[in-house]
Amino acid sequence: MERWDIDRYRRPALVPCELSAGIEGLTIGVGDDAVDLSFEGVGRDEVAEVVTQLMRPSSDVWMRLNEGACPAWVRTLTVQLDALSLIEETDSGIDSVRSDAQHAMALCRDVAKRLAAVVGRRPGMYREVLGVVHQMLANDAPNRDTTPGAFPFSGKESGPFAGNFALQSLHFQVAYARQNAPELLFAWQHMLGEVFREAGWHPAAAIPDDAPLQRLHSAASLDSLDLEMYLLSFAHFVEIAPLRVGRRMTSADTERLRQPCSGLALAARAERLLLSALDRLGSNAYASAALASREVTPLVKGLYVEQYHVTDRFVEILGPLLSRRLKRNLRARLFQYFQEEYGHEAFELATCVALGMNEAEVRASVPLPLTALYIDAYTVLAHRLPTAFFTSIMVTEGLRDQHSPVHEHIAALVESALHAGDIVAKHGETNDELNHPSLSRLFLADVAHVSAAEQRYSLEAALFMLEVNMRQLESVAFFYGDQTRLQFHGLWEGRRPLEI
Ligand SMILES: [Fe+2]
Repeated sequence: MERWDIDRYRRPALVPCELSAGIEGLTIGVGDDAVDLSFEGVGRDEVAEVVTQLMRPSSDVWMRLNEGACPAWVRTLTVQLDALSLIEETDSGIDSVRSDAQHAMALCRDVAKRLAAVVGRRPGMYREVLGVVHQMLANDAPNRDTTPGAFPFSGKESGPFAGNFALQSLHFQVAYARQNAPELLFAWQHMLGEVFREAGWHPAAAIPDDAPLQRLHSAASLDSLDLEMYLLSFAHFVEIAPLRVGRRMTSADTERLRQPCSGLALAARAERLLLSALDRLGSNAYASAALASREVTPLVKGLYVEQYHVTDRFVEILGPLLSRRLKRNLRARLFQYFQEEYGHEAFELATCVALGMNEAEVRASVPLPLTALYIDAYTVLAHRLPTAFFTSIMVTEGLRDQHSPVHEHIAALVESALHAGDIVAKHGETNDELNHPSLSRLFLADVAHVSAAEQRYSLEAALFMLEVNMRQLESVAFFYGDQTRLQFHGLWEGRRPLEI
């Protein structure tokens, strides 16, 4: 980390103080404290004059200091005063908060308009979905998000929305936001409010007219890229919720699990469940498009862009487990896992650059909804139920050392196109060398006992993550597959949003 320096203030000022002549130099009094300043080669009056000036944020002493146009003793003096914590930032930041808040609200309105247009075409179809989503945002019982009961929108009690992938996704994103970005809840509510206004109806009695200033400002604390990502992903999942594509493609019969079991038995059950689900799912849009590629197309590039976004956030998913008081062995392993994954986004970014993409553009692109969900859902699972996380992670780290012909094909394409292949191959090898396909079993071997309810939730979670993983790849195929020149995801400057 770099050292703090005085030039970092935007509008500094010395706290109001009283000046008096000291025995040797000058004494400044702040409240009950008195600080003696001693100096050589400068007259006391001259120092007193500068000290008086420093109390005024608009004084040109500050300006000249920033430009390096002040005598050395003035700099020494301000550094000394700063070290005594007597300098304060007087710019409250309200202007930047206001402009960020305005930007945030404009984004909300923009995405809301798009969603309202979709809803407006088939209002009858969206009514119930919007009601459920509105309820989801309004319900702030925090316990619901920390105690694993039934998997969301799975059982019969979920009514017509049982097995709805889109609502499950929204459930996880809302739970993620409650824990990690509560400001998003407001942004989503604001967006829904706009949709209801456009549609001319509202599930609750009244629409809050104007958002209180405080909440409006809270959205400004979000990174605008994150805000854009979450507004777009929220709108995407609402949009697909009543459609056929919004329904789950996989299901598991977990009801029959009524007995507790060991962690390793759960690992074996999860492996069997996932392998048979993979089998039943068969090929997908992404696999066929990727296998048909004979060169590095936007589809191949897009895969690396999204992969970069995933790895850029990947280690976050371990955060909730790192702060838990787990058994020593398990804790040590989790920290090792964190270490082994940390910084891997550099590989993906390097591949993107080697494929001719601009690094800043890759960083500024907005992850696809499923890419965001992928990390959000893992983070929520890690927070909610460790065994659910341990079983689900096999989706990412590889199932029983299975090799993917699709990934091999893409790696070969990239390798033959340029020497970026070295990077691609290195990453693949790293995962295998580190034995990450063994992680689920290693973690679960340290879990002695899993209750029936925990098993049910863990298996549902693993299957859900398998579907998220597959849909993420499919959305890559859908978004990048028909591009002739690579275009990034997003709303501004030559980017484009995902459309159904
Ligand atoms: Fe890994």
